Amino acid sequence: MYPLLFRHVLSRFDPEFAHHAAMAVIRVLGIRPFAWAARGLTAPRADQAVHALGLSFPSPFGVAAGFDKNAVGVRGLDALGFGHIEVGTVTAIAQDGNPKPRLFRLVADRAVINRMGFNNAGARAAERRLSALRRRAPRAVIGVNIGKSRVVAVEDAVADYVASAVRLAPLADYLAVNVSSPNTPGLRGLQAVETLAPLLRAVKHAAGDTPLLVKIAPDLPDEEITAIARLAVDEGLAGIIAHNTTISREGLRTDARVVEAAGAGGLSGAPLKQRSLEVLAVVRQAVPGDFCVIAVGGVETAEDVQERLDAGATLVQGYTAFLYRGPLWARQINRGLRR
Ligand code: FNR
Repeated sequence: MYPLLFRHVLSRFDPEFAHHAAMAVIRVLGIRPFAWAARGLTAPRADQAVHALGLSFPSPFGVAAGFDKNAVGVRGLDALGFGHIEVGTVTAIAQDGNPKPRLFRLVADRAVINRMGFNNAGARAAERRLSALRRRAPRAVIGVNIGKSRVVAVEDAVADYVASAVRLAPLADYLAVNVSSPNTPGLRGLQAVETLAPLLRAVKHAAGDTPLLVKIAPDLPDEEITAIARLAVDEGLAGIIAHNTTISREGLRTDARVVEAAGAGGLSGAPLKQRSLEVLAVVRQAVPGDFCVIAVGGVETAEDVQERLDAGATLVQGYTAFLYRGPLWARQINRGLRR
């Protein structure tokens, strides 16, 4: 049903418009009677819970950062069966993001290219929404992903991340430091160990008891991934999220002219699958067995999720396949995992 709807209706709409329309439906789903009804259909079974980061995740599968940048759809996403919701990226200062169009479907690759540029309402607004959510949806596991405000110079990034962490860590089940989006100039340079170490130390101090994770890019050489993983362990972080979108355009089926016309940005979806498994293996080798590794990139099916879990992922996330598979995606994955 959904594939037909996607092919004949949704794919004709501008992708960002379609995202906002989907989010409007998800917000309605979060209203109490609808949420109860949806949860009856989608809730993971009690034996699917995963214990990690000192929390109980109802399912190992959650929704990756970027889908709900402003924490407006958490209750609806929870009702759809996601075991956790990583909101954000939130920046200390509200910002509009890059000019539109900035989101492009590559249907033949079940992928998208985005250069959204952290469009979000800022940490203060996220703080308000999360405070309200904590009262109304106490069960949902909420990660908060923070990034650098565009107007802040890279040299001042630490204070900017700390400002977000101070506001949001008390309301988050975990906090993720995003240094891996390709759409904020200079951001990925913060992954260099010399700059990352002081950043992680300062944010960890600001986050207090809230588990802190760092989200990395798949385009780093394996040695750098190993170095970051070791740094994360040494700095007392709780985990690593591997990984963000890629700037690579290799191996795509979509016509090269279409890919080129989309322009700069991060590629996500099915083409990430192979690199994602490689990065997971590199990270897993560099960290202790009980260190939390969240695998993300190219996950489409329950088999993909199981493959990541078997390869050492503690939890798994996805985003792009939600666009192609529709609202019952998390339910299908939870059911498939049971089988
Ligand atoms: C993202 N992603 C992302 N990641 C992040 O840390 N902060 C963000 O704000 C965003 N924004 C964002 C927007 C859009 C439109 C997409 C498609 C992706 C990256 C996302 O969380 C994930 O790491 C990658 O998309 C890889 O997973 P999938 O999409 O292949 O399952």
